[in-house]
Amino acid sequence: MMFPLQGAQMLQSLERSLRKSLPESLKVYGTVFHMNQGNPFKLKALVDKWPDFNTVVIRPQEQEMTDDLDHYTNTYQIYSKDLKNCQKCLVSPEVINWKQHLQIQSSQPSLNEVIQNLAATKSFQVKQTHCILYMMAETIKKLVPSLLEGKNLSPNSGKPEAICQEMFKPSSLDVTHAALVNKFWHFGGNERSQRFIERCIQNFPTFCLLGPERTPVSWNLMDQTGELRMAGTLPEYRAHGLITQVIYSHSHYLNKLGFPIYSHVDKSNTTMQKVCKKLDHITIPCGWNQWHCVPL
Ligand SMILES: CC(C)(COP(=O)(O)OP(=O)(O)OC[C@H]1O[C@@H](n2cnc3c(N)ncnc32)[C@H](O)[C@@H]1OP(=O)(O)O)[C@@H](O)C(=O)NCCC(=O)NCCS
Repeated sequence: MMFPLQGAQMLQSLERSLRKSLPESLKVYGTVFHMNQGNPFKLKALVDKWPDFNTVVIRPQEQEMTDDLDHYTNTYQIYSKDLKNCQKCLVSPEVINWKQHLQIQSSQPSLNEVIQNLAATKSFQVKQTHCILYMMAETIKKLVPSLLEGKNLSPNSGKPEAICQEMFKPSSLDVTHAALVNKFWHFGGNERSQRFIERCIQNFPTFCLLGPERTPVSWNLMDQTGELRMAGTLPEYRAHGLITQVIYSHSHYLNKLGFPIYSHVDKSNTTMQKVCKKLDHITIPCGWNQWHCVPL
């Protein structure tokens, strides 16, 4: 059986404990970090025991999960030190509602075996997405400095060349820009993803560049797990260095707020991989993993 952690002290202690298991705990660590900063998505943390937990599951409150088809809301983050224990924990419908369309996110690729085993017994279809995981060098320096050994960082912390300041003005997104972000988001393009994007815009700092029409031409967001996400540039403004500038400014602003900075990029997206390399965002061996589960 798993039970929810109650109160600020326990959650802060969980954050400190997860920090010792980075980078494998990164997705859960980032989420708990933001739960401790006001918890705007009203998430809860379940553990199998306390304080020496084996498995942590972060999930929304049941009352938030009213749409069985909304896998953007029905999203769980998992970290476990013991995969056998993890599988036992996840069987319970009080931990994961397997009757819904849902997503599981984790920086631990080894969770795949657990989820595949559960898919067979619980009768759901599962699609795994494995992407490249990046952490900003400044974040690594603070949290897991050993990962920087042997890395050649740029002398100017990846600072990009200035862009035309007459033409492009730095700004933030407002909720009416969710449709634009949704149109270019690889995992989006539907009404449910648009609602999720609206929630991200309302609750976390965003960054964009306004073009000559004074509307966003390049943008970057953050989600409830503290990850930088949904970057995009309008096709007619691409290859002018705009997203490089946006991500540089956004990540340095968030870093000053003390946030851990990380992101993922699809293995086929060589443009974004180039951007990350240029900005001293370092690849993390465990990778970024998401499982999309649909009941049969
Ligand atoms: C990926 C994307 C955000 C890049 O935005 P952008 O503003 O064009 O990026 P930049 O101009 O800063 O380009 C970064 C680098 O990639 C290069 N580049 C940009 N578009 C390219 C293309 N189509 N082919 C090859 N190289 C390209 C740039 O020349 C630049 O390299 P350089 O610094 O050596 O000159 C944009 O193509 C996009 O919105 N794609 C669809 C959504 C997406 O994939 N988002 C990212 C999710 S992680």
